[in-house]
Amino acid sequence: MANIIGGITTSHIPAIANAMANGLEETPYWKPFFDGYPPVRDWLNEKKPDVIILFYNDHGLEFFIDKKPTFAIGVADEYHNADEGWGIPTIPPVTGESDLSWHIANSLVEDGFDMTICQEMKVDHGLTVPLNLMWPGYNYGHVKVIPVCINCEQHPMPQPKRTYALGQAIGRAVASFDQDLKVAVFGTGGMSHQLDGERAGIINREFDIDCLDKLVSDPEALTKYSNLDLVEIAGAQGVELNMLIAMRGTLIGEVKELHRNYHAPISNTGSGLMLLEHTMPKK
Ligand SMILES: [Fe+2]
Repeated sequence: MANIIGGITTSHIPAIANAMANGLEETPYWKPFFDGYPPVRDWLNEKKPDVIILFYNDHGLEFFIDKKPTFAIGVADEYHNADEGWGIPTIPPVTGESDLSWHIANSLVEDGFDMTICQEMKVDHGLTVPLNLMWPGYNYGHVKVIPVCINCEQHPMPQPKRTYALGQAIGRAVASFDQDLKVAVFGTGGMSHQLDGERAGIINREFDIDCLDKLVSDPEALTKYSNLDLVEIAGAQGVELNMLIAMRGTLIGEVKELHRNYHAPISNTGSGLMLLEHTMPKK
């Protein structure tokens, strides 16, 4: 039986990759951000999940704005990164988990989620930055990764209530997989932020912290927001909150917050790191 043992929220901005590649973790600007990660790394090293389901948004490497799946899932045995134009290092290949991926894909379509199913896909910083944050030095080769993309770039985008429902459906799919696997789920992305336009640089700390609180105790409250609400309250790219909401949806049952580090701004974004242990894995 596959079990989801916990969920993690983390930023995935490309500037993190540059900071790590250039050894800037201890500089005054970055230290408050990187200081949050050791407890989460320790938990992962202790629990040793076999599989990571990773929610992120593709920023144009695989899906440019001319073709944008609302939801996409990878079912490959391996995923490659490529030069994204941010000046960040291209990282080693990521190992997939095709059996569980196909099980989830079949289950989701059966459940009414018309996924784009990718037998081949390039993975961008939305996926690679979190992996290298958790296992620095590109030491993530021992975990298998299932990429799940949510459109957060091109309207119309899926609404929070739908991304939460997607997470719940993935949680049910994992629970019905008959191999003994430990699964952790990452919800990645910036919290409040806007990259351009008149409100570029907007950060709403109060809202971000309230979202982190609600991800623990009342995630359904977040599904009441529309994406336009999120744009207004948290900036145009605040819609990346959808990845965090999807992650929380997979944790059917009780969760316990083990760690949190909110820090802002990092490269004009609010960064919310949180570790939730799933205390009632679904049998
Ligand atoms: Fe992003």
